[in-house]
Amino acid sequence: MPSPAPEKIPQHVAIIMDGNGRWAQTRGLPRLEGHRRGVETVRTIVDAARELGIRYLTLYAFSVENWKRPADEVSGLMGLLDYFLKRELDNLIKHKVRLLTIGRTDALPANVQRELKRVIDATKDFTEWHLVLALNYGARTELADAAKHYTSAVLAGTEKLAECSWENISRYLYTSAIPDPDLLIRTSGEQRVSNFLLLQCAYAELVFTPVLWPDFQKADLQLAITEYAQRERRYGLTSEQIKTGPR
Ligand code: IPE
Ligand code: IPE
Ligand code: MG
Repeated sequence: MPSPAPEKIPQHVAIIMDGNGRWAQTRGLPRLEGHRRGVETVRTIVDAARELGIRYLTLYAFSVENWKRPADEVSGLMGLLDYFLKRELDNLIKHKVRLLTIGRTDALPANVQRELKRVIDATKDFTEWHLVLALNYGARTELADAAKHYTSAVLAGTEKLAECSWENISRYLYTSAIPDPDLLIRTSGEQRVSNFLLLQCAYAELVFTPVLWPDFQKADLQLAITEYAQRERRYGLTSEQIKTGPR
């Protein structure tokens, strides 16, 4: 499949990896088997994103709402996360990919937090490629956390209420060091954002694909990017202004 021109490649792609459960259930397998296959897709897509020139890849791996799933599914997911981090470390180092996280990771099991710290520390000096895992992430929780920290800074006098702006507040989001997503992809046919990066996706292009996450391949990512490349991002301007420049 021909790739779009380099300037049409999104800098940051965020993916809501959905459909693991249905992938397994249609095969008469336990849901966890779908999650296992989903982990294999993560490896494929991390490599594919880098090969396509995508500098930031954010993957929604576990939402704040996902704790409400059956206990054995939650513990299975945590086990897979631990396995993924142990297995991926060498691959991330080999390709100079920096691991970052967004979400309340301090509520994850201690062994997962340990592995995360290990991989984050080992990759912290890489600057070109970034894999961002959204773990125990919720956009509303992120806003509440940001509001708490921003208010503390105002009370401490390091922020001035009179200077309250999006630029200033956004420095308190989990994503302060990460550019906004250009393209948000959701697999599995669902067309909703499920509490994911609600503010950061203000001007992201959305692509929904019916492909279930365990079946998602490099060609599906390329297809989403081809669709993205055909969109005109107007940011409130008119199409004419985009073509001729604002006046
Ligand atoms: C996405 O797949 C993975 C997580 C939410 C952790 P699902 O488990 O939501 O799969 P479906 O939506 O039930 O098919
Ligand atoms: C969103 O998927 C969360 C992740 C992919 C981690 P869900 O499957 O949890 O979302 P809903 O419940 O269908 O909205
Ligand atoms: Mg789902």
